[in-house]
Amino acid sequence: MGSKLEIVQDVINAFEVNKESMLRTAMLFKETMEKSLNGEKTCLKMLPSYIGKPTGKEQGTFMTIDMGGTNFRCTKYKINNGNFEKVGEIKQKLINKEKNYDLTKSDSDEKQLFGFMAECIGELLEPEESLYLGNTFSFPCRQEGINDAYLIQWTKEITTSGVVGQNINKLLEQSLKEKNINVKPVAILNDTVGTLLVAMYSYQTADIGSIMGTGHNTCYLENNHPLNGQKMIVNIESGNYNVGLPVTKYDEIIDKNSQIPGAQLLEKMVSGYYMGSLLKEVCKDLYKNNALFTNEDVDIDAFFNQNFNALMVENFILYPSNTKEQYKCSIEDAEIVKRVSEAILKRTVRLVAVSHMGILFHQENSGTSVNNEHVIAIDGTIYEKMPNAPQLMKEAFREALGDDASNIEIRLVKDGSGLGAAIAAAFAVTQ
Ligand code: GLC
Repeated sequence: MGSKLEIVQDVINAFEVNKESMLRTAMLFKETMEKSLNGEKTCLKMLPSYIGKPTGKEQGTFMTIDMGGTNFRCTKYKINNGNFEKVGEIKQKLINKEKNYDLTKSDSDEKQLFGFMAECIGELLEPEESLYLGNTFSFPCRQEGINDAYLIQWTKEITTSGVVGQNINKLLEQSLKEKNINVKPVAILNDTVGTLLVAMYSYQTADIGSIMGTGHNTCYLENNHPLNGQKMIVNIESGNYNVGLPVTKYDEIIDKNSQIPGAQLLEKMVSGYYMGSLLKEVCKDLYKNNALFTNEDVDIDAFFNQNFNALMVENFILYPSNTKEQYKCSIEDAEIVKRVSEAILKRTVRLVAVSHMGILFHQENSGTSVNNEHVIAIDGTIYEKMPNAPQLMKEAFREALGDDASNIEIRLVKDGSGLGAAIAAAFAVTQ
């Protein structure tokens, strides 16, 4: 066993993704996408959305809902001539400890979950009003039409009973009917698809939409979809990607302790939900090997017995002196925690960039060159809030693709899951 610093360095090296590894994995990602498009069963579900490019002429007032994880949001939008106006919103948590409910776990069922959603919708609806609704439902769904999506499997550690296998908007419609709420679901979409739809309104060449938040996933515009020979947005469900990834022993622990071991491997390596736990595993290992928290005063319990989340990773990077104060550790220790946090974040960004490169290679179909202009729209707190994330992403593209990287613009696009649902609903009723 090496010195303290060598041990730390080894761990940091395990999180590195170099140029060769980026390009190799991106090619594998592309191949996997293409196999799946040709009907082969792979880890990439490549789910059709039944939505193409919006025309820009969508209009009207629409109700939208958005269940992305444990948060639920119901928003009303007015769309007119490419302008969007939010006319009302209710935000709720699906978990409420005081009121003693948790709609995200298996002792709650579909009736409770969709009943809760219907109630929120009812609260936002004016008397005498009747509206169409777009539903952003950010989980893998087998989609058979713009309004028909069946939940394949919960992700992001949600386990509510009675929903898997069901037609989601039918469940919602039933709950709305039971409560006499005059709202009709007409579209259901993934949050990545919503993000891309919103981006398409602003950027001519937007053709990839991605979420880097609690979960991770990407969609893209397929120019010639096998189902209809036309343009269609495809929800890749890239969080489930698992070919050729640089999996560490820490990732294996996270996977083993998760609700569905073996599933959502890329997501477990890159998304906000798991990022804190990953850091905790690394710190535990360093501590065990006497490479971290070696002085006696350190408040080991305070450090390890808390719930690690992505916000903590951000704080460890930004404020090592707070880490020192809070856990009574040395500044060297705080710096090690910072370096490990940075390494985890950098890997996150690089692996996401790798999947985007795989999509670009598929769209361009010319090896590892990217000759046309693309806008990649990203939403989610990891990209938006984590120190330097956009910069790290740019560097990854530049390192892997050289000058071709200048053909790729990455944009933070907010509220795809709200506004995108309104656009999808408008698209559905004006088709
Ligand atoms: C999970 C879901 C996916 C969603 C992503 C981001 O990966 O399976 O559908 O897009 O989280 O919210």
